Amino acid sequence: MMTPSDVKATLAFSDGSPSMELPLYKGSIGPDVIDIRKLYAQTGKFTYDPGFLSTASCNSTITYIDGDKGELLYRGYPIEQLAVNCDYLETCYLLLYGELPNQSQKDEFNHRVMRHTMVNEQMQFFLRGFRRDAHPMAVMTGLVGAMSAFYHDSTDINNPEHREIAAIRLIAKMPTLVAMAYKYTIGQPYIYPKNDLSYAGNFMRMMFATPCEEYKPNDVLVRAMDRIFTLHADHEQNASTSTVRLCGSSGTNPFAAIAAGVACLWGPAHGGANEACLNMLGDIQQNGGVAKIGEFIKQVKDKNSGVKLMGFGHRVYKNYDPRAKLMRETCHEVLGELGLQDDPLFKLAMELEKIALEDEYFVARKLYPNVDFYSGIVQRAIGIPVPLFTAIFALARTVGWIAQLNEMIGDPEYKIGRPRQLFVGASSRDVKPIGQR
Ligand code: SDX
Repeated sequence: MMTPSDVKATLAFSDGSPSMELPLYKGSIGPDVIDIRKLYAQTGKFTYDPGFLSTASCNSTITYIDGDKGELLYRGYPIEQLAVNCDYLETCYLLLYGELPNQSQKDEFNHRVMRHTMVNEQMQFFLRGFRRDAHPMAVMTGLVGAMSAFYHDSTDINNPEHREIAAIRLIAKMPTLVAMAYKYTIGQPYIYPKNDLSYAGNFMRMMFATPCEEYKPNDVLVRAMDRIFTLHADHEQNASTSTVRLCGSSGTNPFAAIAAGVACLWGPAHGGANEACLNMLGDIQQNGGVAKIGEFIKQVKDKNSGVKLMGFGHRVYKNYDPRAKLMRETCHEVLGELGLQDDPLFKLAMELEKIALEDEYFVARKLYPNVDFYSGIVQRAIGIPVPLFTAIFALARTVGWIAQLNEMIGDPEYKIGRPRQLFVGASSRDVKPIGQR
């Protein structure tokens, strides 16, 4: 609920242009906003905020982040409590409908999702069009967008029933599509979903089973996978969520809007960071391991090197990302279960984290480990190939993207998003005949 604040902001100009009063609004928690919607009409001026460091694009009830405290709430529930007390499908229910389900609501939702896990058999022909060594995120961008070619009964984003069934289909089919993208790269047959398994257990089976022998999911690894899904489910107005909102604001269908989110998440500054982080750890390991961390940190501090400490830093968190703490716990559990406590990459990551957290360069810039710092190590230990990490991030974030998209479309005030610019290019000039150019 946006509550008008008693405080007003006055915008005055030193050149004597008429000043303007701007209303402020308060949220339930977090920073107030200055409502600038009438600014251009009244002053002929735009605000300027590339990267949106000081811009609220919407009002939302879904996810709240306090970057200074390192706090993350899904519909008011702390991520630490959800990760321990709930599973991913309960979290999906919470994000979509605003409340945690009771037992019968949970059973009904699970039944609905697990009855939509198969994809149309035609989907296999899309996969055949890709090279076997295509990056899984290239494949996923294609497959998710292609879903709008199959489900014509759920492409009208303004129809609540369409939005509801599209949400269930996307949540249900992402694991099947990610597993198919993986099997295609290794030349193994696709494994069909098994609906009597848990959501995460079904995904692990589709990933690692073969028709030649039954696959028994390991409960510790399944719980770790489910926790990875929960920790990545939503995260306020991050780059890919903002992409989904902007894309969906044109009225395009939900599958196309989610495909845009997949494409944005792929970037190494965003969801691609877990893959980049593991590659970074691998490079350090190859170049001498722990003994070479100092040299690597020196490179990171040298702006000209272009080297970043992947898995560190965050636009919002200026404290420890609460998800990273939970992911580190999961790391210990998984490596313990698999007898990999001495995993060299995990030891390297812990040493790198220790050194970075004590180094003035990182402390001054409030650079802490984020969710991607440990998620790659956990996924690698589980047997997930590195290029698939971001596809799993996309699988988990699909529910957040859908919840945010539906919140926007459900807001009667929403309009198509259309930012403006500060133009610094050539003013009007005449075309010269080619002989005079
Ligand atoms: C995700 O938005 C979300 O919520 C995203 C996400 C989600 O769940 O949706 O949380 C998922 O994307 C997590 C972030 C994953 N990305 C990485 O781990 C890649 C490495 N991190 C950086 O690229 C960077 O930290 C960003 C992109 C995450 C944040 O970029 P900002 O906001 O532009 O960073 P900043 O302005 O706060 O940086 C402040 C300073 C700068 O140096 P100075 O100009 O002050 O000298 O810190 C430097 C930056 O150059 N810096 C880093 C660094 N991150 C920032 N230096 C070295 N290594 C880093 N990782």
